[in-house]
Amino acid sequence: MILGIDTSCDDTSLALLDTNGKVLANVISSQTAAHAPHGGIVPELASRSHMDVLPRLYTETLRQANISEADLSGIAVTHTPGLIGCLLVGVCFAKALAYRLKIPLFAVNHLDGHLFSPFLTHSPAFPFLGLVVSGGHTAFYQVKAFDDICLVGQTVDDAAGEAFDKTAKQLGLGYPGGAAIEKMAIGGNPQQLTFRTVRVKMGKQYLSFSGLKTAVAQAILKQPPAVGDLPHWCASIQDAIIKQLADKMAWFLSEFSYKAFALSGGVAMNTALREHLGSVCLEQGIDFLAADKKYCTDNAAMIAYAAFKRPNLADIFLLNPQATQKIQARQLAKDMNCGES
Ligand code: KG4
Ligand code: ZN
Repeated sequence: MILGIDTSCDDTSLALLDTNGKVLANVISSQTAAHAPHGGIVPELASRSHMDVLPRLYTETLRQANISEADLSGIAVTHTPGLIGCLLVGVCFAKALAYRLKIPLFAVNHLDGHLFSPFLTHSPAFPFLGLVVSGGHTAFYQVKAFDDICLVGQTVDDAAGEAFDKTAKQLGLGYPGGAAIEKMAIGGNPQQLTFRTVRVKMGKQYLSFSGLKTAVAQAILKQPPAVGDLPHWCASIQDAIIKQLADKMAWFLSEFSYKAFALSGGVAMNTALREHLGSVCLEQGIDFLAADKKYCTDNAAMIAYAAFKRPNLADIFLLNPQATQKIQARQLAKDMNCGES
């Protein structure tokens, strides 16, 4: 029984997985309402809110799974990447708990959590092309096994979710922007005006989304949208983001023989994106494994799952510091090899 903890950004989440990797509880406390008036996440507010809710959420998670803490056999916590204060709160909470219960503590990379989140509801198929598309990251991975992951491409500037959030803010649609743009885009004609993302000259494996907010800013300066035009603007923005992701995905699929494509991260909530990338998979004859919508945005079930599937690659093993050092050295060597190939 593994307890997962994620406090990497603005949602506090705890989850419990049983020995078969089945989710017994996945509790999320959202801070969206606290940050919305500021138009984005305020890190200090987020850290303090994690501190406030963690103890209560822990009790609630055990209650929902109907287990006692004596049943826990390990704790998995997000240790990077994320907002540093937020990560610290989660890691300190997890360390104290692991120390008190005398059980191992696994430090999980948040992106590994997202990458494997489709397998909370689908059977894994290797090798697969993974796309993690969230508010902070947009990255493609070649995954041959749970412990054989290679980063093959990523954005050179903004993440796709950031592009949704920033353009939504420019259009006065509030924060977070992805869901707001998607809702407003319904019935809009993406061809009525065209926003484009730029091509990156550095190499085909890179993506770029920062040009989109500049294009939208310039269009607003020229002629701010009338309320009735907002659906067309949003449809065009959404279309530009989806198009770049789909083009890049098709290129990666042509470069290597994959059995499946796995989509994850907060932007994977977007139905038009799911449909578009799903149809590319259908054309290519490969499985389309999208994370269930409840596991797209940040959650602790995916963190517990990543530790469950790759315990030998977790970075901390609190009760045995020597083992920790060996594991970290192995992980580092592996990342470097991957970079070379
Ligand atoms: O994975 P996530 O919860 O947090 C990070 O690790 O970043 O992703 C949050 C991102 C935000 O940028 C949000 O605007 C985007 O996911 N998002 C969406 C949708 N729902 C959330 N983007 C597009 N369409 C949506 N329906
Ligand atoms: Zn995330």
